[in-house]
Amino acid sequence: MKRLVPLLLVLFAGLVPVALAAKPQALSYPSTWRSWQHVKSMVIPDKANGLYGFHHVYVQPSALAAYKAGKGYPAGATLVVPFYEVQEAGGATVQGPLLKVAVMKRDASATDTGGWRYGAFDAKGQALELDAKAACHTCHEARKDRDFVFSEWAD
Ligand code: HEC
Repeated sequence: MKRLVPLLLVLFAGLVPVALAAKPQALSYPSTWRSWQHVKSMVIPDKANGLYGFHHVYVQPSALAAYKAGKGYPAGATLVVPFYEVQEAGGATVQGPLLKVAVMKRDASATDTGGWRYGAFDAKGQALELDAKAACHTCHEARKDRDFVFSEWAD
């Protein structure tokens, strides 16, 4: 045992920095989003489009007032968009299986990406690798006047 403790400390000291360095911006999957406020839906039926899918925008209840105002998001405020397959059924366009879930979370330390952390997860909630700035923020930057959020509340 006396020998084991220093050995474990050495192992830990080596592992922890590696784990932290590998995913400096890793977001955890906000698994309760299905019970959040749904605000709108959109369909992009063109499979060649990078945003292909049947989308719904959900807002965490504690971020709803800021979402309606279009600014003033509190730390940790989270917005989510699940993407589903687009299917035709009996003359209707309907959502098919879940493809992925895109997430934005307010974090003032993410200065490179407008104070938001971006993440994407597969249908099982596993994080997908992405460069948040290139893959997400460069497009959201167009909405700087609304705190980088595209969609808007509609009564
Ligand atoms: C080509 C532009 C573009 C790119 C790239 C993009 N988005 Fe978006 N995003 C949009 C648009 C447009 C909406 C609004 C959708 C709507 O109104 O239905 C949106 C909506 C969102 C929302 C809901 C809040 C809002 O802004 O309305 C989240 C969360 C989100 N995107 C996350 C991401 C993540 C994560 C990535 C990177 C993996 C990403 N987006 C990449 C254009 C983009």
